[in-house]
Amino acid sequence: MGQYMQLFQGTAFSSQSPKEIQILKDYLFAVNADGMIAKVVAPEDAEYQPLLKAYEGKSNFHRLAEGQYLLPGFIDLHVHAPQWAQSGTALDIPLYDWLNTYTFPLESKFADLDFARWVYEDLVSTLLANGTTTVLYFATVHKEASLLLAEICARQGQRALVGKVVMDDPAQTPEYYRDGSTHAALADTEEFIVAVQELAKTVKQGIYPVVTPRFIPSCTDEVLQGLGQLAAKYDAYVQSHCSESDWAHGYVKERCHKNDAFALHDHGLLREKSVMAHCNFLEEPDVELFAKTGTAIAHCPISNAFFSNSVIPVAHFQGKGIDIGLGTDVSGGFSPSLFDNVRQAVISSRMLEDGVNPSLPAHERGVPQSRITIDEAFYLATAGGGESLSLPIGRIQPNYAWDIQIIDTRLPVAKLPIFDEHKDLHGIFEKILYLARPENIREVWVQGKKVHSRQ
Ligand code: GUN
Ligand code: FE
Repeated sequence: MGQYMQLFQGTAFSSQSPKEIQILKDYLFAVNADGMIAKVVAPEDAEYQPLLKAYEGKSNFHRLAEGQYLLPGFIDLHVHAPQWAQSGTALDIPLYDWLNTYTFPLESKFADLDFARWVYEDLVSTLLANGTTTVLYFATVHKEASLLLAEICARQGQRALVGKVVMDDPAQTPEYYRDGSTHAALADTEEFIVAVQELAKTVKQGIYPVVTPRFIPSCTDEVLQGLGQLAAKYDAYVQSHCSESDWAHGYVKERCHKNDAFALHDHGLLREKSVMAHCNFLEEPDVELFAKTGTAIAHCPISNAFFSNSVIPVAHFQGKGIDIGLGTDVSGGFSPSLFDNVRQAVISSRMLEDGVNPSLPAHERGVPQSRITIDEAFYLATAGGGESLSLPIGRIQPNYAWDIQIIDTRLPVAKLPIFDEHKDLHGIFEKILYLARPENIREVWVQGKKVHSRQ
């Protein structure tokens, strides 16, 4: 076997900084027994040839074929697991109507564990096949089905952070789909946290419980306060929706007389381990509060195009020091692919910068300095997600988890238009990000273990 569990040889792309890509051409990547990257060795390093000779021909040596490249596995910071069953449904109606007409009735069905298993098994394998190695999930209000999701992720080998959703306010939740009471919501959340922490003891890639108030409109102040206390008691992750749409943002302003950010902070819900979805309507004091508390943003560009009534000024927020990652927001976003969301993040930012109303003169049409590049969007899907979760993931470098996807650009059924293979590796990187389909993702590894392969 040798000293390492696996040795890979090939060309990898990883973020050097939020703006810059690092290209590791023909490197060796040594993975240790814990599934961590022990060494990254350049062809000109003295140990390259001896290491290569020691592993070549062994079953734990993997040389990427011509036209294959390594990317870090993607980190999806916002998925509603039950909503996979309605992906692509009714996206032409406003958020409030979509929640009440379609989403709450669907989520209520997850009291049935057989139905939950059917949907969750399919979703987790689909996300892995799309190159997503870590996911921050909303489940439903049901404690058992939420735990089932964590177990399925554990077994399929995905790194997962899972929340039992809390919705206890009768004013904004239907009788058929809410926690039994404020007390029950808190008791179930605590039991869920303890059960997931127990499960985590046997899971190499990591499974974490997440305190999950759906959003302020679904929750009483009392439950928000209790959830903040649980987050502190268990040093747990926190997730919610924050200032997503005109309606959601306005509702909180009217009820709490302040923006979501400050209302969540009042209850101890903005922490280093907090990730808030959307955040389109943050104002400057909210932005400063996020930066001060270490709260991260899950940017969900496809979902935003349907439900957020705006394009989030992601470049501006990043400039203020907030950690930002990407989310699919299945099923507010119809696609389970972060490739699709990387593309949309770039496209939406360009539309914000240039503006969209052709009847206005060019200089009045947009918001200057809003665009992000494809390299920056890739950072959001990888290293930015890792920073948001404070986990050593999203980069191909020593002391990070071996969470990777192998992209085959020459697959006959999904060949990328690459005609200058040896000339321009950054150009190939761009083509992969804009054009790769799930078929091009040949293998996916999490924590040093292969969890998906396509022949
Ligand atoms: N706000 C509260 N719940 C949801 C949800 O399920 N999806 C989205 N996009 N926004 C929400
Ligand atoms: Fe959401």
